[in-house]
Amino acid sequence: MRLDGQVALVTGSSQGIGQAIAIRLAQEGADVVINYRSNPKGAEETLEKVKAAGGSCHMVDGHCDSIEGFTVQADLGTMADVQRMVADSITHFGKLDILVNNAGVEKNADFWDVTEADYDAVLNVNLKGVFFATQALVKHLRDTKRPGKIINISSVHEELPFPHFAAYCASKGGLKMLTRNLAIELAPLGITINNVAPGAIETPINTKLLNDPQKLGALLQNIPLGRLGKPGDVASIVAFLASSESDYVTGTTFFVDGGLLWNYQEQ
Ligand code: BGC
Repeated sequence: MRLDGQVALVTGSSQGIGQAIAIRLAQEGADVVINYRSNPKGAEETLEKVKAAGGSCHMVDGHCDSIEGFTVQADLGTMADVQRMVADSITHFGKLDILVNNAGVEKNADFWDVTEADYDAVLNVNLKGVFFATQALVKHLRDTKRPGKIINISSVHEELPFPHFAAYCASKGGLKMLTRNLAIELAPLGITINNVAPGAIETPINTKLLNDPQKLGALLQNIPLGRLGKPGDVASIVAFLASSESDYVTGTTFFVDGGLLWNYQEQ
């Protein structure tokens, strides 16, 4: 399997896209750290599926090995939590190879009504948390002289305006430049970093939209492939980016959006 013997940390993996990624990486042979903030039940569900994904045993270096999972509570918007999460992951598995910065939040408000608290909630999780989780992994890889893979779950909104979500767009635009910058700075260490940018995916972040037939219909009109994405559509490209098949790929963004981003048609 493509990720045999690797250890991956997936932030925000108690539900949605993060949960699908954790399960997919386990299916590829990785041991997985499952991070959650406020949904321990969801994290336990992910853990069960991660363990089941590997079957009873797979071969690593001629030995029968089982897929392991480990759950860790941490708020990605809090520096101390971020550092504890990475340190606990390394202590538990003895190392960390792959970081998937998936946790993210969005808040819908007119620009003039956005509060400092909401701005901080979005920027702290979506950008500051990514920045310092990545820094903690990079220090570990540098000190142990090993290569690694960082995959950020961004959004089509790292490029595309999303009125009423100004802080969210600022965070994802920031993530785009962080990835480009780190691709250059981390290349000499053998570390690659890429973004995966989903469009509209059926997940809890979209609950309101999914329950509003009018809004949903209008959105579907904008998606050339004519459907919302599934978490698994995102997880499969993350698995590729986490594997050695993508060794020559860094600093780039992969859109998983059914064609949404570049869809413009004259009526
Ligand atoms: C947002 C969703 C939105 C989708 C397409 C995602 O980044 O989280 O709320 O529906 O982009 O606009």
